[in-house]
Amino acid sequence: MNSYSIKELLKKQPTGDTVEVNGWVKTFRSNRFIALNDGSTIHNLQCVVDFENFDDTLLKQISTGAALRISGTLVESQGRGQSVEIQANDIFVHGEADPETYPIQPKKHSLEFLREKAHLRVRTNTFSAVMRVRSALAFAIHSYFQQNGFYYMHAPIVTGSDAEGAGEMFRVSTLDSKNPPLTENGEVDHSQDFFGKETNLTVSGQLEAETYAMGLGKVYTFGPTFRAENSNTSRHLAEFWMIEPEMAFYDLDANMDLSEDFIKWILQYVLDNCQDDLEFLEKRLLDEEKSKPQAERSEMPLIEKLKFVVENNFKRVSYTEAIDILRNSKPNKKKKFQFLINEWGADLQSEHERFLVEKHFKCPVILFDYPADIKAFYMRLNEDGKTVRAMDVLFPGIGEIVGGSQREERLEVLQQKIKALDIDEKELWWYLDLRRFGTAVHSGFGLGFERMVQFATGMGNIRDVIPYPRTPQNAEF
Ligand code: 4AD
Ligand code: MG
Repeated sequence: MNSYSIKELLKKQPTGDTVEVNGWVKTFRSNRFIALNDGSTIHNLQCVVDFENFDDTLLKQISTGAALRISGTLVESQGRGQSVEIQANDIFVHGEADPETYPIQPKKHSLEFLREKAHLRVRTNTFSAVMRVRSALAFAIHSYFQQNGFYYMHAPIVTGSDAEGAGEMFRVSTLDSKNPPLTENGEVDHSQDFFGKETNLTVSGQLEAETYAMGLGKVYTFGPTFRAENSNTSRHLAEFWMIEPEMAFYDLDANMDLSEDFIKWILQYVLDNCQDDLEFLEKRLLDEEKSKPQAERSEMPLIEKLKFVVENNFKRVSYTEAIDILRNSKPNKKKKFQFLINEWGADLQSEHERFLVEKHFKCPVILFDYPADIKAFYMRLNEDGKTVRAMDVLFPGIGEIVGGSQREERLEVLQQKIKALDIDEKELWWYLDLRRFGTAVHSGFGLGFERMVQFATGMGNIRDVIPYPRTPQNAEF
């Protein structure tokens, strides 16, 4: 007998063939209609049971969450909403799910409740849809780069450097935390640690990716990155996935062009390949937003919003222009911003980024040429001596989704910068070597994968787009 996924079965004609399917019960109504789902699609398969033909004890085992194997004939559906259904001949119960204790019952559960049941939440419509879109996006990302001459590069997870120079790192050590070996000065002696030095989980694969771009030409990383920043927001995770393309001979303009083309391509891929899930997620979002005041609702339904991004140019604005706009903006003048913009050089907060994108330009924005003082050490200094060739892509509802730059390729300028920031040059000897041997203009950026999944699915909280979120005070599962 032929075993099929529900996605396959729902595309078939009602041929009267005998087929087999496995899945979990969504609902069992009137002792007759099983809605079965196997995760292959957002849609359920209706399986019709003639209870006269089945044992009572078996029927009692069928409840929401139970795993079943059903074989039967594929017939035209009498009910609305699906073209085919199964007339069940045989039902095997793989495993029951006691309705008294199984938490995912057929009713509305809050996202907060489901976060505590993260091991089961993928069985809900919302999370299965989000995770299928997440998977499709990951595939799209690889496809885009592979089709465009990039090589996939694996940056190390354990590193000795702080790529962003922000000091937000998780230490990696095998020393006895209760009784570590000490140096003569009374400090922890990391020369006796596993790697013979201080190491941490990577905050970014960029520095290593740069070394590979300077040999392979165009590379990208796609892996987990870690930040020990104590940010309890709906956009921050302590463990998140980042995509970091790095290209030799690209200047900042080419970098911005790439980021825009890349983002549009992967969103188009999702529009083309995840239609059912997007339709479901769009409805979910509309429902959720009904309870919000008008001003907080999205201006466009999800699918329209994705199409809008794909079809319209991102607005490119220099930091200096952006500061002028913000300084003269209503929320700044009326002191509505939490952080008021008074002068050039101010770091932009998410409230400012979102104002620019959502209220002022009403489209994705790429800000570039930021003050050197608020950006990382590796960014190329402009001729003005005070701004760097940095760029951030800002998205509606999200804020910063991409951060990137043209890299400082001049050895002396980079050395000066490292010294000024009191970074240990010895740790970066290999990074500086790139500027000693065959240095060249090069650029890259980092896309926060979860923020992109948030945008594509309309989910408001980043904890709901990764299977097991890691956030301050939380590493359950
Ligand atoms: O702007 P960031 O810190 O840039 C870098 O790490 C560079 N090394 C990238 C590069 O040029 N190769 O981070 C890049 C992106 C952000 O724009 C954001 O989307 C995401 O990573 N991101 C986070 N996502 C979730 N949780 C966090 N704590 C994040 N921090 C950054
Ligand atoms: Mg950034």
